[in-house]
Amino acid sequence: MDLTVIVPTYNEAPNIAELVTRIAHATRPWKTEILFVDDSSDKTPERIQQVAADSAIPVRLIHRADPVGGLGGAVVEGLAAASADICIVMDGDLQHPPEAIPDLVARMDAGDADVVVASRYVGDGSAHGLSDRTRVLVSRASTTLTRAMFPVRLKNVSDPMTGFFLVDRRAIDYDSLKPRGFKILLEILARRPLRVVEIPFHFATRFAGESKASMRQGLHFLAQLGALRFGKMSAFALVGALGAIANVLIVWVLVRWGVNYVVAAVVAAEVTIVANFLMFERFVFSDMTGQASGFASRFAKSFAFNNAEALVRIPIVAVLVSGWHLSAAIATALTLVIAFFVRFLFHALVVYAP
Ligand code: GDD
Ligand code: MN
Repeated sequence: MDLTVIVPTYNEAPNIAELVTRIAHATRPWKTEILFVDDSSDKTPERIQQVAADSAIPVRLIHRADPVGGLGGAVVEGLAAASADICIVMDGDLQHPPEAIPDLVARMDAGDADVVVASRYVGDGSAHGLSDRTRVLVSRASTTLTRAMFPVRLKNVSDPMTGFFLVDRRAIDYDSLKPRGFKILLEILARRPLRVVEIPFHFATRFAGESKASMRQGLHFLAQLGALRFGKMSAFALVGALGAIANVLIVWVLVRWGVNYVVAAVVAAEVTIVANFLMFERFVFSDMTGQASGFASRFAKSFAFNNAEALVRIPIVAVLVSGWHLSAAIATALTLVIAFFVRFLFHALVVYAP
């Protein structure tokens, strides 16, 4: 098997020699290259060139004049430029011990995964290298939040925030990736369903230099979470809104043709439910159909849910108006908003569940 070890670097000059030596040693059984994708403002690129000249294995350098996407952008550029399809992504400060690479490759060899994640939070893995209590807390909290927001995609991923993983790049959908900031693994896992497994590793302390983590990176991360999750939700909302307009138009046309109002309303509702489903398939959940149940089963679940929901919503409005003394308009609006979220969750977690 051929490997490319992709290392994003930003001002890591004193770590390069040690890193290259240890990677070369750990990857002796395989034909391996190291690919640095560097955005440094210091002498790191020169240092990489020096070390490359003496290295036991090929070392390549991409120095980006225009460092779009930061760490994540660098990794995506590395994936595109790698010589091998099997890529290992790791930090340049030796917090990710190169000695764990054989474990990643061995796990990949089992043949049941597209991504092998080196996790701090599984088995006898550890996060001792996190420099202080605040970082431990921030790491725990952001991991919990992220996993709660992607209960399906990250079901088997205890450490979606790690920067140490192996990926078969043929499984990645490049065009969907919008790297920004530090969390490229999350971007890869959230965009498309992949077969993911984990191995434990010990997150070490930095060899030299200092961390580039910052408040700004934290904000990038929240923006990324929002874009990944609510991007789908906005598309879902847009389809729902178009459906509502179509619904009204159909009722209007049918009633003008002399169709009974109740019949017109039922026909319009059913047509809209089916049309919405087809739009979900094509535009909202198209990346999830591959691993979900078959088309007929997805349709049956969506159709049954939407009909049940429409039926249940009417008595709930009645209860809100008579019991809670809300106006009919407010009660209807309230139930529609709640129904929107429930419908979204049902589709994301049940209809399109892998
Ligand atoms: N090319 C490039 N461009 N590399 C960068 C940039 C950038 O803008 N910013 C940081 N890096 C490189 C660093 O040089 C280092 O090799 C690696 O990315 C990680 O950066 P650190 O500064 O060491 O950050 P960290 O230790 O706080 O965060 C890392 O640990 C997290 C786990 O707690 C990151 O790897 C995260 O991905 C990881 O999850
Ligand atoms: Mn680090």
